[in-house]
Amino acid sequence: MPIYVNEETQQFHLQGRNVSYIFSMTENEQPGQLYYGKKVKHRDDFSHLRQLPAEPLGNAAFPYEGNQLFSLEFLKQEYPGFGTSDYREPAFVIKHASGSRTSHFIFKKYEILNGKPGLEGLPATYTESDDEAETLVVTLKDSVAGLEMDLFYTVYHDRDAIVRSVKLRNVGDDHVVIERLLSTSVDLPHADFEFLHLHGSWIRERHVASNPLRKGLQSIDSKKGVSSSLHNPFFALKSKDATESHGEVYGFNLVYSGNFFGGVEVDLYDTSRALMGMNPFGFEWKLESGEEFQAPEAVMVYSDQGLNGMSQSFHRLYESRLVRGEWREKERPILINNWEATYFDFDEEKILDICKSASELGIELFALDDGWFQGRNDDTTSLGDWTVDHSKLPNGIEGLSQKVNGETGMSFGLWVEPEMISEKSDLYKAHPDWVLGVKDRPLSHGRNQFILDLSKQEVVDYLDETLSGILSSSPISYVKWDMNRNMTEVGSDSVPADRQGEVSHRYVLGLYELLDRLTSKFPHILFESCASGGNRFDPGMLYYMPQTWTSDNTDAIERLKIQWGTSLVYPLSSMGAHVSSCPNHQTGRSTPLDTRFNVSMFGAFGYELDATRFSEEEKIAVKKQVNFVKENRKTLQFGSFYRLISPFEGNDTAWMVADVEKGEAIVAFYRTLAVPNPSLKRIRLQGLKPDALYEIDATGQQAYGDELMNIGLLIPPMFSGTVTTDRTMIKGDFASLVWKLSEVK
Ligand code: DGJ
Repeated sequence: MPIYVNEETQQFHLQGRNVSYIFSMTENEQPGQLYYGKKVKHRDDFSHLRQLPAEPLGNAAFPYEGNQLFSLEFLKQEYPGFGTSDYREPAFVIKHASGSRTSHFIFKKYEILNGKPGLEGLPATYTESDDEAETLVVTLKDSVAGLEMDLFYTVYHDRDAIVRSVKLRNVGDDHVVIERLLSTSVDLPHADFEFLHLHGSWIRERHVASNPLRKGLQSIDSKKGVSSSLHNPFFALKSKDATESHGEVYGFNLVYSGNFFGGVEVDLYDTSRALMGMNPFGFEWKLESGEEFQAPEAVMVYSDQGLNGMSQSFHRLYESRLVRGEWREKERPILINNWEATYFDFDEEKILDICKSASELGIELFALDDGWFQGRNDDTTSLGDWTVDHSKLPNGIEGLSQKVNGETGMSFGLWVEPEMISEKSDLYKAHPDWVLGVKDRPLSHGRNQFILDLSKQEVVDYLDETLSGILSSSPISYVKWDMNRNMTEVGSDSVPADRQGEVSHRYVLGLYELLDRLTSKFPHILFESCASGGNRFDPGMLYYMPQTWTSDNTDAIERLKIQWGTSLVYPLSSMGAHVSSCPNHQTGRSTPLDTRFNVSMFGAFGYELDATRFSEEEKIAVKKQVNFVKENRKTLQFGSFYRLISPFEGNDTAWMVADVEKGEAIVAFYRTLAVPNPSLKRIRLQGLKPDALYEIDATGQQAYGDELMNIGLLIPPMFSGTVTTDRTMIKGDFASLVWKLSEVK
C-alpha cells in the first residue's frame, strides 16, 4: 500500500520503492511537511516529527492569540502561502477581488485514486495500469475567497519518484488573479546541501554547476518563453558528501516547456524550502467564477545512491511513463542529417548522392534539414510558407522521399519549424496579426524571424492543417521540429488587456494542443524536438517527442560536458547525438573519427556530414561503427547509465552503460589532452554483477564484476613518448577508447 492515511491525525504517508513522504494538517488546518527522504516503516502516528519551539520566540508573528508556540514562520509547510505569519518565498500568490493577496487555505477533504489522472492540456507522466501507482488528492479551501485547491501527489510502487501538481478552482462569485501557482514546495529540515543545476547557452547547454546552499533565496529560471538553455527546469539538492554513486540527493524537474522558476530558500532556522513551477515573473491568470487552472506537474526524485541513482530514476520513469506511443522504449534508427553537410545549398541529386553513400554504410534514415521550401536559401526568409522549392527538389518532397525509400532503402525524415514566421513570407503578408507581439511596439529580432501567436486557436488550426497535409502527402517517418528564437515582446490581441500576463502560458498550451493533435494523427512518426539545439530540452517536449537534438554543438569534446550534464535528468534514448565532419563547425577543433563516434554512440545516434566525402578508410570505420551501434543499440539507448569520471573536473572523462539482463556493459574513456609519460590509471566500474565473470573485448582479459567495480579496469596502454606499438590504444589529443564487457556464461 503506497499511501497510508491516519484520518484522526490527518496524516498522510506516501511510500515508494525506497522513499517516504509524510505530511499532516497543522493546528491551523494547513498541510505541514513532516518528512521526505529514505523509506521509513509506517507507523500510525508521526506527530512527534512536527518540530515546534519549546519556548515562545521573540519578534515572530502568531496566527492565534495566546499561542506563541505556533507560527508558520518556523513550521515546515507543504504548500505555503503568504501573509499569515510565514515570510519565506510562497508557493502561491492569488490576488483576490478585494485587491488583497492574503489567502488561507484549510483542509476540506482527501481522496485516493488508483493510478494517476492525466493533466488536461498538459504533458504528464502516466500509468499504464491502475496498480502501478496511487494518487492522493488533498482538497483545501479558502472560504473567504471562494477558492478550492487540489494538491495532487502520485507515488509509484516501484519507483522513487513523487509527482506533484496543483489545481485551483474558483467556486466563489468574483474573479481572482493567479500571480503564482507553483507545482511543488517542500521544506527540508536542514541546509547542508549543494544546489546543483544545469546552466548554459547556445552550443554550451546543460553544464553542471553546484554550490553550497547559503542563507536566502537561490534560484534559476527562464523568462525566454521556452524552458531554455540558460537553465534547465531542473535542480538537485545534493548532500555535501554525496557523489555520483553514494549519498542523498533530491531532484526536482518541471514537466513544462515555457518560463519556469526553481529555487531554494534557506531561512533563519536553516530550513531549506525547495520550490519549482511556472515562472511567476510576467505571469498572471484571471480566473473567473466557475473556472479552474491546472499548474504543470513537477517530478521529485529521491536517491540515497548519489546522482547516478537519481538520474536512473528519472531515466526509467521518462523512458517508460513520460514518452508515449510507438517509439516508447524502441530502438532509434541511425540517421544522417544534411544540415552541416549542405546547409541551404543542395538539390535532389546532391541529397540522393548523400543517401546512397550513407545507405551503403548501413545508415537507416535520412533527415532533410531546412532549405527545402520555397525561397529558403538562407535564414532570412520563407518560414510559414511550407511549399516545396521545386528549383531544388523538382519532384517535391513526395518524389524525393519515394526515391530515398526506393533507391536506397532508407526511410525519410523532414525538418520543419512551424512555430515561426519570416517577415519575408506570404504567410506574413496574409496574416501580420498572427505574430506574437505588443501593439504599437517594434519587435525585437532573432534569427530574422518572428514567433507565431500560438495562443490563437486559428493559428493552431492552421498549423495543424498545413503540417498534416505535408506529413500525409509523403512517406515521412521522422520529423525534426525546430524552434529558433526566444520570445521578446510577449503580447497578443487574442486576449484583452487584463489577460496579457497569460499569453506566454497560452502559447505553450497552444503548442501542446498542436503537438497532441499531430502526434495522435501520425503515431508512426519519430519526432525529434529541437530549439537551436538544446534550448527546449525538457520533459514537456519529451511527452510529445521522444528525443531532442541535444545541442547544435557537435564537437566531441564539448559534447562530453553537454551529454554528461543532460544525462543528469534525461535518458540516453532522448539525446540526439551525431558524428560530424572535421574540423568541427562550432569550435574549429579536429578530433579523431573514433572519438566523435565514441561520444555520440551514447544517445539517439546519427551522422551529420556529407557521406559522399568519406575516404575508403573512413568508410570502413563508419561501417564498423554502424554495425557496433546496431548490435548494441538496446544497451546504448536503454541500459543503465553511470557517470564515472567528470569532464568538469579534469582532463579525463569516463562513463558506462550496463544491461544487467543481457550481461553486457559498454565503458568509454576519453582523454582531452595528451599527457606525457602518463600514469597508469584504473576506472572503477559500476552496475555489474559482482560475481559474474566478464570478458573485455579490447584486451581479451577476463575479470569478475567485483574486481572491476572495486579495483577497477586498467586503462589500456597509452602512448608514453617513445614508440607506438600495436598495443598502444590512447595517443594524442582527444583520444578515447570504448570497451565492451560481456558476461562469460
Ligand atoms: C537549428 C538547429 O538546431 C540545427 O540543427 C538546424 O536544424 C538549423 N536550425 C536549421 O536551420
